[in-house]
Amino acid sequence: MTSPPLIDHANLGTRLSGPPLSRWWGYFPELRRDTLGFLLRCQAYGDVVKLPMGRVVELFLRQPDAAMYVLNHPADVKHILVTNQDNYQKGPVPPVESRIFGQGVLHSEGTTHHRQRRLFLPFFHGHQVTAYSGLITSTAHARVAAWYDGMTVDIGQEMAHLTLSIIWRLLFGQDLQADASLIRDAILVGQRLIKLQYDSFLASLTPLWIPLPRHRRFLRGFHVIEEILIQLIRDRRRNPTYRNDVLSLLLAAKDADGHPLNEREIRDELMTLLLAGHETTANALTWTWALLSQTESVWERLVCELNDVLGDRPPDAADLPRLRYLKMIWDESLRLYPPAWSLHTRAAHAEDRLPSGAILPPGSWVFISPWNLHRNPRWFPDPTQFDPERFSEAACQTRPAFTYIPFGAGGRRCLGESFAELEGLLVLATMASKIRLRLSDGRVIKPEPGMTLHPHVPVQMTVEQLRPLQTPTPWHQSTASDS
Ligand code: HEM
Repeated sequence: MTSPPLIDHANLGTRLSGPPLSRWWGYFPELRRDTLGFLLRCQAYGDVVKLPMGRVVELFLRQPDAAMYVLNHPADVKHILVTNQDNYQKGPVPPVESRIFGQGVLHSEGTTHHRQRRLFLPFFHGHQVTAYSGLITSTAHARVAAWYDGMTVDIGQEMAHLTLSIIWRLLFGQDLQADASLIRDAILVGQRLIKLQYDSFLASLTPLWIPLPRHRRFLRGFHVIEEILIQLIRDRRRNPTYRNDVLSLLLAAKDADGHPLNEREIRDELMTLLLAGHETTANALTWTWALLSQTESVWERLVCELNDVLGDRPPDAADLPRLRYLKMIWDESLRLYPPAWSLHTRAAHAEDRLPSGAILPPGSWVFISPWNLHRNPRWFPDPTQFDPERFSEAACQTRPAFTYIPFGAGGRRCLGESFAELEGLLVLATMASKIRLRLSDGRVIKPEPGMTLHPHVPVQMTVEQLRPLQTPTPWHQSTASDS
């Protein structure tokens, strides 16, 4: 006996509601006009919101009723990312994104993806990454030591340079020799192009070889980064010294047939980790500083905790379990401004019935957005308020799982989560024990969604030094003051 079909396709459109959209262009114009606001408005239409892609895409894909489904319920999120994850794979990405990341672990699928994760998981395991504590605190300390009382800093830039130097050491076991600004500029151009291609169906169809100024700018910049990576791979191959870094790990790795990885495969993994591993953390830190500067009482409590636990010494991974309030601040900042504001869309292989009751036809595209989930008043009352108490142990227990997913979930959960958390917490602890940062101008800072969620303008902050930075005291002075 065959089981009855789960779904009456003809009725699907009438069962799931969504906002009014353009018949021809579907949700693209709305998404482009106000991506973040549009997603929040979708909360009003139920647990699963159907967003038709419009006639143009339907004709192009030859797929009638092509639609994106936005998920607002944590049980559905769990179902797609974990319980029934084998039914889904990442949807197609715009050409510029494929060009940047290639077949690195962020974009690969199936057995290749499993093999890549198996290779990286031990390296990024929680215990293993604590070995990088010293690197993180000393790099953060060096950065803050260059600041002086009353100085104005562009905190986004500062955090990006800081996290770039840290990830560079993780990848290559050496300091960044090239011009960091060159790399950052190329990344920013790439970010803008990715966003444009996600927002505009036409832009996503325009191949990169068409010599538009934006394509040329992007290709020029990325060529510079690629050249640097390739040079580092070749140098290490010529002088095969083993180091505890990602490049050594990749050079020792074997593919499915037992052959070493080729240059292209190694380049893809390095580029993936370089981008996934510093832009996200830099934005998380930038948002956290901005939020802290707005909330005096939170900053005061943090400083007390840092004084109690650390006194005058620099933090270490072993201190983190006792820096509980710091962790609550970090979590709340990732809730309000999740750097990965949207997961990659997922495409369904077979029809699927979600726990909320909605039925997704084969070929459906699913949109899961941490930004949207984290600001749902059902799970986070008064969602725009910055309130670290939401992450006290007691408060966490009252919320269903999968309402908070800054690092994704399931088989594609962020590989660098432990490292990102270690880095974020140690940078905050190192700097907040020495200085205080205040927003320099009264400008409103709005989140802008690109490859990551970043502030729409540079965030200028003024440095207020709390303690003189420890330049080692000459021995005769310390004995004199002791007596
Ligand atoms: C606060 C910082 C970070 C955030 C919020 C973040 C968030 C995420 C999210 C949400 C995903 C899942 C994407 C999806 O399912 O579509 C992801 C994947 C990934 N992240 Fe992170 N990430 C951060 C830092 C890092 C760092 C530091 C690294 C590396 C050193 C890293 C490497 C990766 C990689 C390789 C993947 C792909 C995993 C896979 O598909 O198997 N991330 N990240």
